Amino acid sequence: MRHLLSVADLDAAEATALLDTSDRLREALLGREVRKLPTLRGRTVITMFYENSTRTRVSFEIAGKWMSADTVNVSASGSSVSKGESLRDTALTLSSMGADCVVVRHPASGSAHRLAHWVDTAGSTGGPRIGTDRAVTGTPTAIVNAGDGTHEHPTQALLDAATLRDRLGGIAGRRIGIVGDVLHSRVARSNVLLLATLGAEVVLVAPPTLLPTGVESWPCRVSHELDAELPALDAIMMLRVQSERMHGGFFPSAREYAVRFGLSEDRARLLPDHAVVLHPGPMIRGMEIAPAVADAPNAAVLAQVRNGVHVRMAVLYHLLAGAPE
Ligand code: NCD
Repeated sequence: MRHLLSVADLDAAEATALLDTSDRLREALLGREVRKLPTLRGRTVITMFYENSTRTRVSFEIAGKWMSADTVNVSASGSSVSKGESLRDTALTLSSMGADCVVVRHPASGSAHRLAHWVDTAGSTGGPRIGTDRAVTGTPTAIVNAGDGTHEHPTQALLDAATLRDRLGGIAGRRIGIVGDVLHSRVARSNVLLLATLGAEVVLVAPPTLLPTGVESWPCRVSHELDAELPALDAIMMLRVQSERMHGGFFPSAREYAVRFGLSEDRARLLPDHAVVLHPGPMIRGMEIAPAVADAPNAAVLAQVRNGVHVRMAVLYHLLAGAPE
């Protein structure tokens, strides 16, 4: 694996290998007083976040630190990005300082792919080489997509898969519902692709206004009736309504959205007993999920966060040290 840009680049064996590495790293850290493995000593991981984040940025930083990498965080507001520097120039600068891996979150769909393209091809036209010509380590910079616009968020899908594997014992043949603002959700797209690759049956439940064009070609089924789907689900993933990406009315009111597509306590009772409730966070309690449902024993929201650290450790490990035999 050279970069991690899209879950579409992972086949079932590669995705399973990442999940297995994540499990192994979790076991390796279990009960340790000092949570530090020497695995990535001397490697530098830079997180470059052009959008707000709590979970993703912090868990990449912890993941790097627990494997002894040097981690540096750059945020758009505190860097030269706020002076008008381009994504390419910022990335070139960080790469020249010796970044082995740049983890990027950016509001533009496709930005992580652009970055990877620059890293892989820059220099071929006589310009500066990003990553491939560095005196520091001599190894090219790996790019990880930590969310590009409404496109993809591969490590979120991997940590969701890790959580579903833990809770359900496996993913193949399970029916997973993904509910809410699919149109603006990179989490939904990455999850549909990865869960389908791992053999799950996925159903998207959303109002027609919150579904992207072309959804018919996604490897899933689409429904507009949440109550009808609930009794047959093994897991349900609630999506945040991404109001920061909405310019215009996608539904009549927040209250009407919550009534039709929110996971209320009454609605949660329609799920089978074994069903797992997921949410990538940040949750808007009372909008897409009722507080009591988010805190119930079958909710895995904090387990997702915990798995996020181990999955990101696995991703950094596979990128920087190579997949284990
Ligand atoms: C998600 C994101 O940023 O795409 N959050 C996350 O990474 N856990 C989902 C969201 O913001 O709603």
